[in-house]
Amino acid sequence: MGDKKSFYLTTPIYYVNDAPHIGHAYTTVAGDVLTRWHRQKGESVWFLTGTDEHGQKVLNTAQANKVAPQQWCDDLVESSWKPVWRDLNIANDDFIRTTESRHMERVQRFLQGLKDDGFIYAGKFEGPYCIGCEEFKLPGDLDEGKCRIHSKPVEMLSEENWFFKLSAFREELLNHYKKNPEACQPASARNEVISFLEGEVRDLSISRSTFDWGIPVPWDTKQVIYVWFDALLNYATAVGLGDDADSEGGKKFAKTWPADVHLVGKDILRFHAVIWPAMLMAAKVAIPKKIFAHGWLLVGGEKMSKSKLTGIAPSDITKDFGVDAFRYYFLRAIPFGTDGSFSWEDMSARYTSELANDFGNLASRLIAMIEKYCENTIPAVATEASLAKQLAETVKSADEAICALDFQGGINSIMDFCKRINGYVTETEPWKVAKDPARKAELDLILYNTADALRALAVLLHPVMPESTEKLWESLGANTSIGSIAEQKISEVAKWGQLPAGSKVTKTPVLFPRLEENK
Ligand code: ME8
Ligand code: MG
Repeated sequence: MGDKKSFYLTTPIYYVNDAPHIGHAYTTVAGDVLTRWHRQKGESVWFLTGTDEHGQKVLNTAQANKVAPQQWCDDLVESSWKPVWRDLNIANDDFIRTTESRHMERVQRFLQGLKDDGFIYAGKFEGPYCIGCEEFKLPGDLDEGKCRIHSKPVEMLSEENWFFKLSAFREELLNHYKKNPEACQPASARNEVISFLEGEVRDLSISRSTFDWGIPVPWDTKQVIYVWFDALLNYATAVGLGDDADSEGGKKFAKTWPADVHLVGKDILRFHAVIWPAMLMAAKVAIPKKIFAHGWLLVGGEKMSKSKLTGIAPSDITKDFGVDAFRYYFLRAIPFGTDGSFSWEDMSARYTSELANDFGNLASRLIAMIEKYCENTIPAVATEASLAKQLAETVKSADEAICALDFQGGINSIMDFCKRINGYVTETEPWKVAKDPARKAELDLILYNTADALRALAVLLHPVMPESTEKLWESLGANTSIGSIAEQKISEVAKWGQLPAGSKVTKTPVLFPRLEENK
């Protein structure tokens, strides 16, 4: 991999005012699937997630629980956030917490640099502030004095603060998004950002003076840095922003920055597509290549949220359906970029038809037939040309879709291939062919083609469902005969006939057990 630039993907760093719900898991799983896919393309990858720990919202929560804020964050990160990502098989390379010194020091240095270069000035902020959003609002952002996202009354602030000259970057940002459609996706998000930039853009207050849970402003330590200014910088501080070029941090930065994709929910699009690149422009640091804002998981037609107590914990779903089905379901069911409602009925229906029947049953039937008719041994290599051709097309379209963050499209192509293989087995009826010893060669051919198709399906579905595909891989004997599944390259997967003849299969554990009736 040498010094080639890494594919660098980030999730938002989530507020630690509560435990993760499935909305947070949605973003993090999407990031995990995309980075696993890129790793299987043979790229060097860096995947960052973490927690946003400063600011009024986290402070208020800690105080309400009568715990010091640092203790509150430490406890929640260790007992809740990290374990949930482990349970969901998230393979992040780093986890940043904004209370870490590696972050705080680099943030202070960055802000001092902007001050020295004339982008920061003293001013007075007067107006509404939503603690839920941690955002300075305009009167026009409110409905009857309430924030539209949190439906809660805002606070009226009147403070002497430090301001960042955000307005100075309006035109440069506007040109950037007009010229580079891929820089902000999907199109609805890009349009929203462009129309925001076509309006008046005001300078941003970047410090607060009425509480102290934050990073001190280096030249005015009675103020703390505004939580969003602090938080956005995590993407760059985590990989060495501002360090000397020949230091470890400097080298990491050169290999990683700019980020390829900042994955966010549409609630925080503006922070990422306007404020963040403007901060970088001011510091003469390259801006991220792409901001992708996905839609919301809705409950009762509204955004699922911690503050409205509509959050469903990932474990509420995984305890019945398993981790892989959880990872699969949301990306399969909701076009990435669009809002979607969660429903147990739809989840159960897809689990049964797509995972248990189409995929799981295909795997167990094939292994059972190889056990019964071929003494547990993969028969002679054979190529059914029409299947091989369809696999090549599947890989091409899945790769295009997933790299464009169209997870639904990518998964659909792969599952269409799975359906095709089910059709092949139904049409060729190996259980009938097996009754006639004279047709042994034909039987072997059918079973070989089915087995090799499953080999490909396991590899293609591995980024989405790492656990069950690994089980299938093992039962195909592929760990011994081919190598580890995570090392299988997307570019090679369509090469038909990779399962070597003569290797041994073992019984598959049931990949997707039947749901109990009362669920
Ligand atoms: O905004 N549907 O943190 P946060 C889909 N700390 N995604 C959802 C969701 C839902 N109902 N609810 C949450 C913050 N998310 C800041 C971010 S980044 C520098 C700082 C996901 O805890 C989605 O990714 O409020 C959303 O943008 C994020 O969680 C907000 O998490
Ligand atoms: Mg939020």
